[in-house]
Amino acid sequence: MHTSTAPATGLPASFADPSWWRQAAVYQIYPRSFYDANADGLGDIKGITGKVAYLRQLGLDAVWLSPFYPSELADGGYDVADYRNVDPRLGTLADFDEMAAALHAAGMKLVVDIVPNHSSNKHPWFQEALAAGRGSAARDRYIFRDGRGTGGELAPSDWVSVFGGPAWTRVPDGQWYLHLFAAEQPDFNWDNREVRDDFLATLKFWSDRGVDGFRIDVAHALVKDLGEPLPSQADIDALEKLHDGSHPFWDRDEVHEIYAEWRALFNQYDPPRTAVAEAWVDQTRRARYASTGGLGQAFNFDLLQADFDAGQFAAIVAKNLTEAEASGASSTWVLSNHDVVRHATRYGLPRPPHPDAAGPDAAGPDAAGPDAAGPDGKAWLLAGGPESGLDRGRGLRRARAATLFMLALPGSVYLYQGEELGLHEVAAIPDSERQDPTFFRNAGVEIGRDGCRVPLPWTATGQSFGFGGAPAHLPQPEWFAGVAASVQDSDPESTLNLYREALRLRRRLQSAEQLFWVGQANPDVLAFRRPNGWTVVTNFGPRPGSPRATVARVGCDLEDCSGLAGLGGGASAPEETPDDLFLFSIQELTKGGHQVVDGGLEEPFRGFGLWMSIPLLSRRR
Ligand code: GLC
Repeated sequence: MHTSTAPATGLPASFADPSWWRQAAVYQIYPRSFYDANADGLGDIKGITGKVAYLRQLGLDAVWLSPFYPSELADGGYDVADYRNVDPRLGTLADFDEMAAALHAAGMKLVVDIVPNHSSNKHPWFQEALAAGRGSAARDRYIFRDGRGTGGELAPSDWVSVFGGPAWTRVPDGQWYLHLFAAEQPDFNWDNREVRDDFLATLKFWSDRGVDGFRIDVAHALVKDLGEPLPSQADIDALEKLHDGSHPFWDRDEVHEIYAEWRALFNQYDPPRTAVAEAWVDQTRRARYASTGGLGQAFNFDLLQADFDAGQFAAIVAKNLTEAEASGASSTWVLSNHDVVRHATRYGLPRPPHPDAAGPDAAGPDAAGPDAAGPDGKAWLLAGGPESGLDRGRGLRRARAATLFMLALPGSVYLYQGEELGLHEVAAIPDSERQDPTFFRNAGVEIGRDGCRVPLPWTATGQSFGFGGAPAHLPQPEWFAGVAASVQDSDPESTLNLYREALRLRRRLQSAEQLFWVGQANPDVLAFRRPNGWTVVTNFGPRPGSPRATVARVGCDLEDCSGLAGLGGGASAPEETPDDLFLFSIQELTKGGHQVVDGGLEEPFRGFGLWMSIPLLSRRR
């Protein structure tokens, strides 16, 4: 049994708790864009160490690092050239150890990204495979095939990569290799025992260094059935709808044999190492990745793909809590990450009009507008990110509300760097400065993900807004000055301070992994409570949610509600609530004695947190 480096004294007992992950607040760091300590324009490991106090003050349980390994950055680091090292531009293993120790001493766990589906084409194994030639043991670690056509000049199949363009690339001796993503990301052959053993060695390497958990990239792709003849793209498109494990490379049942081996390794540690699967699979197939005999947890991206809509949010929560119960894992919740348009922006884009909309929204969104195709914001980005198509204020108010709603749910939450500043997507990036392979491989179809990966603004002025002492590796917009962490730090009503307060209360009020809906009189207002009485009210609608009525329904008596509003920082009257709702701040009533109308709670309540919509927040940053 391996044990972690002993946690520093003064840490909560929960630090050694094997279930620490179940309701953890995990913060994703995209290291190259977090903080640049050595003035080369790229964020680095020492930069993270330098910001541990900031992370601690935010109130996190864990930090997840996107890849920091040696990489040619063909896909933002998800093209790994050496799985057991640190990119020299980001630091050294000693820097990593120092960062891990600092995070642990501050009471935070450390999760790292593992990219097992593919390596970089600069990985020594791939270079060896190229040199060794066809039929060699070195080529068998990847997926090489002869081409079709008389001279093998046609790719083995017509498959299209996830990033666009062909999924096969030819090498000088005429063979082709498979890459489900960019050409610089050759897929491993997971039928090869050497590949399996090498990843076990990698997981052991980082676990021995004190890493507490792993985020598994494209966890559903590793095992492939590539028996000849290979199906056509049209054939496999049809299989995608079956969700029965018959697809040649997505979500095959055999992938779970790999994770069972990983689990056996994770369980040799105390506390066991954790893992969360990035598996874009049908909801009915997710539980297996999250099972206790497998990775233990899987991302649920449902909220991230939904509109800001009470009905959608309620259905997603109900479905995922049921699923979590079945798998034995806790649920996960995500609104933003390094692959999607930031949620403050998604929620500020035009959507089909709300049936009850009054005011600007009623005239507003044009169902045929730039985002009519869906809530993901990609169409808006592709249209050049027109400012006229984005209501920044509304997007941010909704983002704050959605975040507070999410933070109160049972299960763990994954936050993405910069969302605590209420950052919007950066749309204005010149083509010449773009980095994401999806932009280059899918010209005219995808703008790519650079806009959510722009280095963070730490200060309102200075070189790269305090990101570091050199121009940032992606250009930062002027409006970063107004949202910099230093500006928000001293503003009690800033989004940064809202996150801090919310995370503090979340930790304090945390309760068993259950949720009870409180009757829904207004379809736009969701109210739920947790087993200890912690109650959350969110108005998703375009009209004032009548806080008094809602709160009365939840059971807080009116006198306290008025008091609550006052505690919230001088909230104005409900009638002044703006078009879209929102959140308020979070207040706790610790006095006890508040009845919840649908009963079943023991009194006195020890912590009664109420998050509800009030007008004040609409003016907040
Ligand atoms: C995952 C990552 C994404 C990356 C892809 C290929 O989806 O989140 O950023 O491009 O895998 O590794």
